Amino acid sequence: MSKRWYQENRRDPWRRQAKSKGYRARSAFKLKQIQDRFEILRKGDTVLDVGCHPGGWTQVAVEEVGQSGFVLGLDLLSTSPVQGAQIIIGDIKSESTIEEIDRMLDGRMLNVLISDISPRLTGRYDTDQAISLELSTMVLDAAMPILAPGGTFVTKIFQGVGIEGLINAAKQRFSDVRRYAPTASRSSSSETYLICRNKLPIPHKDARGKTAFEQITEHLANLDIVIHVDDPPVESKIGIRRHKKKE
Ligand SMILES: C[S@@+](CC[C@H](N)C(=O)[O-])C[C@H]1O[C@@H](n2cnc3c(N)ncnc32)[C@H](O)[C@@H]1O
Repeated sequence: MSKRWYQENRRDPWRRQAKSKGYRARSAFKLKQIQDRFEILRKGDTVLDVGCHPGGWTQVAVEEVGQSGFVLGLDLLSTSPVQGAQIIIGDIKSESTIEEIDRMLDGRMLNVLISDISPRLTGRYDTDQAISLELSTMVLDAAMPILAPGGTFVTKIFQGVGIEGLINAAKQRFSDVRRYAPTASRSSSSETYLICRNKLPIPHKDARGKTAFEQITEHLANLDIVIHVDDPPVESKIGIRRHKKKE
């Protein structure tokens, strides 16, 4: 590890606090700040944590919902067991993962879906932001059939092109949608969180019969963004990542 990395991490108060309080990741404090501000998690809630590795948010969710609650964590990566939670490995974009979530929920509806999902960063901001937008949009689509009316959806987003499209799609599905940047996020970070409360029993008429993904794709097209679908057909629905302005 570089000297710079070591110094930055030694200076990071959230990392130190996470270590001293037994949280696996400094990001636990982002969810704690979201919770302090919006009280999204309640005792007895059923919660899905998408992009849960290494488990910091899952730990906080278990504390908040208590023994009468149910917390399910999902990540592409294997996550060490979190006491009081169930964890599965899978890709939120895949049908088989959605089926596995359904099996694990066993007829329960979610009260809250929290997602700190983030792609493996390439360091090219436009690419990372576009992939993040695509992931958050797909998590929103995955949430809709399993989140109870009145339920809450929280997702990480990176500021940039197309974000307004996602916010509009959320507003058509939830009565209260806000952006919130916890102070526990690094000051250099352009991440923020979308806090969507009170899922509507029926989406707004403009969203009916459409996925959020379709709406974002339309939104990008309206911005004159060309959508490149270089992936094989089976993966073509995740094709908003390579976007660039029309010539
Ligand atoms: C910032 S980390 C989450 C940290 C976590 N909230 C915590 O407090 O420990 C983002 C996670 O999203 C996961 N992820 C990215 N793409 C995913 C996908 N398609 N399906 C499921 N998880 C994904 C990554 O593997 C990564 O572990």
